[in-house]
Amino acid sequence: MRPQDRILELKKERNAVILAHNYQVPEIQDIADFVGDSLGLAMQASKTDADVIVFCGVDFMAESAKILNPNKIVLHPETKAKCPMAAMCDPQGVRMLKKDFPKAEVVAYVNTSAQCKAEADVCCTSSNAVKVVNKLDSDLVIFIPDENLASFVQRSTEKDIIPWPGFCPTHEAITVDKVQKLKAEHPSAFVVVHPECRPEVIDIADAARSTEGMMSLVKESDKTEFIIGTEQEMLYRLGKENPGKTFYPVPGAVCPTMKLITLDNVLAALETMSPEIKVDPEIAAKARAPLERMMEIGRGD
Ligand code: 13P
Ligand code: SF4
Repeated sequence: MRPQDRILELKKERNAVILAHNYQVPEIQDIADFVGDSLGLAMQASKTDADVIVFCGVDFMAESAKILNPNKIVLHPETKAKCPMAAMCDPQGVRMLKKDFPKAEVVAYVNTSAQCKAEADVCCTSSNAVKVVNKLDSDLVIFIPDENLASFVQRSTEKDIIPWPGFCPTHEAITVDKVQKLKAEHPSAFVVVHPECRPEVIDIADAARSTEGMMSLVKESDKTEFIIGTEQEMLYRLGKENPGKTFYPVPGAVCPTMKLITLDNVLAALETMSPEIKVDPEIAAKARAPLERMMEIGRGD
């Protein structure tokens, strides 16, 4: 039997739902019940009536699903699938910043550990970061952990942003030179990049969107060619859902840890009901409020 077929059988038996991020490899996207961006996945996780969530993405995404569903089993098929940017921020450092700037409110990009979220007033994703910041009472905002996203938000707010010096290595690989080269090769293409890109890349793009924001932008656009400034797997869903449109990836934009989820480890996770995500209940309770506040604010792109 093909692993895909056994996964579908076990999914029924366990009353499980499979959630997958837009950067997952095609064969994982194809067996998922829902494929989307961080915000969409958190929203799906919070409303599912399944007993088990199989999370195909990186650590902080699976952890958020557990925080939102303390009584459900959340399986993360490969525990080594971690986001390096989330690992660049630590709760002690955030507490020190809060001491230095007691009037500031703390916004935690979802790409953070549960411990860092527990220090935040509200979470955000790249879809709604500007909307979340503009809704805060304070004019001073500590923004963790992505300095590029912080600088993207700073362009659209009067508030003062204090950035944490983290970054995404995958999006750092998207450089002005690479994008300019693609623009020269495809002069009619529309350039859409992720807000985790360097500011100088955002400057030469036509738009900056979350991964799901890119999906809607492309669907609604009259353009037929697009340069996609984010992780390369994004092109799979874009191509599948937009026949007749052409997409150009930026070379080298690969998130290696996203690729650690495979059909074999999803199957093993459903068979053995492990590895299961555990979050300290006290931390989870503190981290849930900022996540729920983010979801109430909703999509921004
Ligand atoms: P999205 O929320 O736009 O899917 O981004 C998540 C992410 O990790 C981007 O690198
Ligand atoms: Fe983390 Fe970057 Fe990978 Fe997204 S693409 S999961 S931010 S390392």
